[in-house]
Amino acid sequence: MIGAVRARLAGRTAGEVAGLVAKNIAYGLRRLSPGAAAARRRSMAFDLRWGTDTTTLANLSELSVDRARARHGVRYQPSNGEALRWAVAAAGVEPAGCSFVDYGCGKGRIVMMASALGFARSVGVEFAPELCAVARANARRFVERGGAAHAPEIVEGDAGAYLPPAGPAFAYLYNPFGPVVLAEVVAKLEAHAASGAPVWVAYVDPRHPELFAAERWAIAARQDGAVLLRAR
Ligand SMILES: C[S@@+](CC[C@H](N)C(=O)[O-])C[C@H]1O[C@@H](n2cnc3c(N)ncnc32)[C@H](O)[C@@H]1O
Repeated sequence: MIGAVRARLAGRTAGEVAGLVAKNIAYGLRRLSPGAAAARRRSMAFDLRWGTDTTTLANLSELSVDRARARHGVRYQPSNGEALRWAVAAAGVEPAGCSFVDYGCGKGRIVMMASALGFARSVGVEFAPELCAVARANARRFVERGGAAHAPEIVEGDAGAYLPPAGPAFAYLYNPFGPVVLAEVVAKLEAHAASGAPVWVAYVDPRHPELFAAERWAIAARQDGAVLLRAR
């Protein structure tokens, strides 16, 4: 426990440590609210239904990830799927004609849901090998139990280096990393769009929306805690 805390704080400035402490206190307080308790119950319902393991959080300090990259990353915590359903409906895309990519897919809940929605390909990119292993086991169980016809693909690697599949792409980001890695992802999505493919981005808990420059991205829809963007 103390070792894990030390690993999390290693190399950080006093300001960064203070920011982390404040963030954890705010997070603890939010977890106590009735809304948060209801969201936790909905979150656990997915695992109860499919026999998967997507609810438990994982800190990057406990995972075999590149430490320099982990400094820009956010720990694993799952989306509940509501923003995904909202964004796909708001985009009006036909999933069968589009690839889906979850950047920082963790244990794979969102890519399983995207497979169930019928996306032509559903890809999860994750840099923590331990989380990839859990995501692959989850995906197998999900398909065995009839959750989707095809299992999502789990790609082990850094999101900043990943190139989306050819053709229309729907990207999903649940605040997975800070601006350094996000800028790399956005640049690759912009290059993809420049090749003529339609590109949508569902950005959930959007902490760095300024990286989607207005000349290249239009806001297609917005709701509390999420924004849907379309490459121009
Ligand atoms: C907030 S969780 C989101 C999980 C999942 N997308 C969801 O919505 O349920 C962020 C995830 O991003 C992963 N991550 C952080 N930095 C990454 C990077 N540079 N490359 C790939 N994955 C990364 C973390 O390991 C973690 O699993």
